[in-house]
Amino acid sequence: MRRNIVAGNWKMNTTVNEGVKLISEIIEKSKDLSDVKLIVAPPFTHIFSVGEKLKGTNIGLSSQNCASEEKGAYTGEVSAEMLANIGVEYAIIGHSERREYFDESDEVLLKKVKLALANGIVPIFCVGEELFFRESGDHLDYVCAQLDAICELSDDDFEKIIIAYEPIWAIGTGKTATSLQAQEMHAHIRNVLADKFGEKAEKTSILYGGSCKPSNAKEIFAQPDVDGGLIGGAALNADDFIAIAKAF
Ligand code: 13P
Repeated sequence: MRRNIVAGNWKMNTTVNEGVKLISEIIEKSKDLSDVKLIVAPPFTHIFSVGEKLKGTNIGLSSQNCASEEKGAYTGEVSAEMLANIGVEYAIIGHSERREYFDESDEVLLKKVKLALANGIVPIFCVGEELFFRESGDHLDYVCAQLDAICELSDDDFEKIIIAYEPIWAIGTGKTATSLQAQEMHAHIRNVLADKFGEKAEKTSILYGGSCKPSNAKEIFAQPDVDGGLIGGAALNADDFIAIAKAF
């Protein structure tokens, strides 16, 4: 009933040539994959070139961010409309690296989510706690508060979004949440969303991210509320990325 999704967040990695080579390999190696939706999120500079390669495939094209304003004097920003215009279908919004290094507040993230949706782009909305909150036992409440922005959406908009749970302590550290920790949080996220949106929350894909690799993906994806992964480091290697997608 829910869609299985494996999305690759390339972060600030690869040149255009390397990105085009990587997507060509991913396309080639994913030909026999049918029950999982692949999405790639290259840096802004390669979105167009990667998108050209993706034409005629089922692989989705994502950005890693979008501006919180519609247009105008915002030097260095890229709007949701510009992204939609070059074929972007998804936007990662609220990644912990954006929240932390670029001070993106819940208020700004809600503006981004709304602009993405207004331009026909599906937000992949990220939440996740720092180690401190995990160790103090407040991780569930912390992530629940991050979902307040999503709870402001209309029912129609809510139906379109994807959620990614990425515990910050597991990102790029080699330390993965256990499958039970992931399941506990994913079920909690779904319950919080169900309080607001009722059974529509049953249809929301919730992805896990944080040191996900071929060796641990199967166990994590086997959890009932884990509907796939948002992959960082392992998404930069076509074999690893496809092996993760085959873990379903
Ligand atoms: P890693 O898979 O490198 O831990 O990164 C996860 C992530 O941040 C994906 O958005």
